[in-house]
Amino acid sequence: MFEGLQKKWKVSGWRLFLILIIFALAGSLTGYVARKLVATLGVEHIVPYILLYVLLLTIVWPLAVLTVSLPFGQFPFFRTYLARLFNRIRGRHTAEKTSSAGTSKRIVIFASGAGSNAQKIIDHFRHSAVSVSQIVGNRADAGIVSIARREGIPFLLIERERFFRGDAYLPELDPAADLLVLAGFLWKVPAPLIEAFPRRIVNIHPALLPRFGGKGMYGSHVHTAVLQSGEAESGITIHYVDGHYDNGDIIFQAACPVLPGDTPDGLAARIHALEHLHYPPTIEKLLNEQP
Ligand code: GRF
Repeated sequence: MFEGLQKKWKVSGWRLFLILIIFALAGSLTGYVARKLVATLGVEHIVPYILLYVLLLTIVWPLAVLTVSLPFGQFPFFRTYLARLFNRIRGRHTAEKTSSAGTSKRIVIFASGAGSNAQKIIDHFRHSAVSVSQIVGNRADAGIVSIARREGIPFLLIERERFFRGDAYLPELDPAADLLVLAGFLWKVPAPLIEAFPRRIVNIHPALLPRFGGKGMYGSHVHTAVLQSGEAESGITIHYVDGHYDNGDIIFQAACPVLPGDTPDGLAARIHALEHLHYPPTIEKLLNEQP
């Protein structure tokens, strides 16, 4: 039951524990407040007593849940939870960020680094019809592994031999994935994977392609090259993945200035901010445009 709730609400085990505590505390608080109010109003007959009590429960409970969630740092979860609940009661199923087709979508994130982009994507789609169903990476010690564990998302650790010369892990990838999202994944994507997900694999590159891309152009190498070239601006590129490094059709680009005295780290920070801002909504747009 708990695993089902974790999946439904897309929260880690620890967060689910907090949420259940909040429900319990808010429930008790609601009962207490409602009883006190009915007593204050002096209603004695059983039928109006029950009617008033139930009416007060429905009014007090949402307020109690929101109030109790505050000190636990879970206000955003309950705000969205209540908004969806009221929408459902009113017969509206238009939860924010639902894909235009109205169906649920699944994405798989490939990442092998700190995972800051992955985290932004997970946050963006939390409480929406889009779920991050799996995270794939090739380093067991990377930050992304802790993110996957904390978020309760299955993590698939892959190794080079099977990825490039075996079955590319196809049998273990989520077969229902609508989009494979590369976010700091440095290996080339092998042909069987590209064939299995035609135009459904996207990558983000920390420069304005087609310049400063290709083999070896990752992380600080990119920013160092940009600074050495004397470019006045750099930026980000979101593109489809084909069989070559940083080569597929460009989906989206955004630029930022290169400032006098910039270091690779300073430029990287500006680029990261751009990535966090644009990658999640671009993924959302792509999902909405899918048939
Ligand atoms: C990003 O800069 C992205 O452009 C590149 O790898 C980096 C990943 O960073 N492909 P993070 O792990 O998401 O923080």
